[in-house]
Amino acid sequence: MREPVRAIDLLDWYDRHARALPWRVGPAARKAGLRPDPYRVWLSEIMLQQTTVPAVKSYFLDFTTRWPTVQDLAAAPDEEVMAAWAGLGYYARARNLLKCARLIAGDFGGQFPTDLDTLLTLPGVGPYTAAAVASIAFDVPATVVDGNVERVMARVHDEHTPLPTAKAILTDYAAALTPQDRPGCYAQAVMDLGATICTPRNPACGLCPWRKGCAAWDAGTAAELPKKEPR
Ligand code: ADE
Repeated sequence: MREPVRAIDLLDWYDRHARALPWRVGPAARKAGLRPDPYRVWLSEIMLQQTTVPAVKSYFLDFTTRWPTVQDLAAAPDEEVMAAWAGLGYYARARNLLKCARLIAGDFGGQFPTDLDTLLTLPGVGPYTAAAVASIAFDVPATVVDGNVERVMARVHDEHTPLPTAKAILTDYAAALTPQDRPGCYAQAVMDLGATICTPRNPACGLCPWRKGCAAWDAGTAAELPKKEPR
């Protein structure tokens, strides 16, 4: 009999193996009561939308050194921000970044909203980023679903329906697993699992905290999931 897949097992793994990232408040610090700065969470998630973690690190450090608060960023000249963004690509992101910073600094009194619906009204903030900010910054039990999460869910459930058709199914699986306790750590734990263990190729199943509950591990199908519709 396969064990159930439980958020707590992933959280226990995260407590021991969380990646140290410049925008992250690690599990020990979080448990000690330190809360992530919503501005830093939002900025990192915008940068990570179409760019890899290694590429984002130096840009994140540069931005937060020059503009430590959302008010600082909001007051920066457009050309300076666009120049600092150069190299990250997808320049619409940088324009929306400034629009959003000025909206937060102005209309929102410098405070990021905590609920998904209001976050979704912000320029450059889609369902993934809204869920990431709500969960990581405010511990709202929102579910982040990106390619990494889809891959993990397809494997854990041995779901062979191809993407993009499988999107709704995999989103439901992800939502069902999201815990009420420590949803912010959990969101980051799934990201880490997808990035370091449940990788697209050669997944390190031997190290996976969810192996005993993983249907694809049982079936020997992990490496071939998720399926994709021919395009
Ligand atoms: N990819 C997108 N958001 C991320 C985050 N907060 N940490 C690590 N990888 C990510």
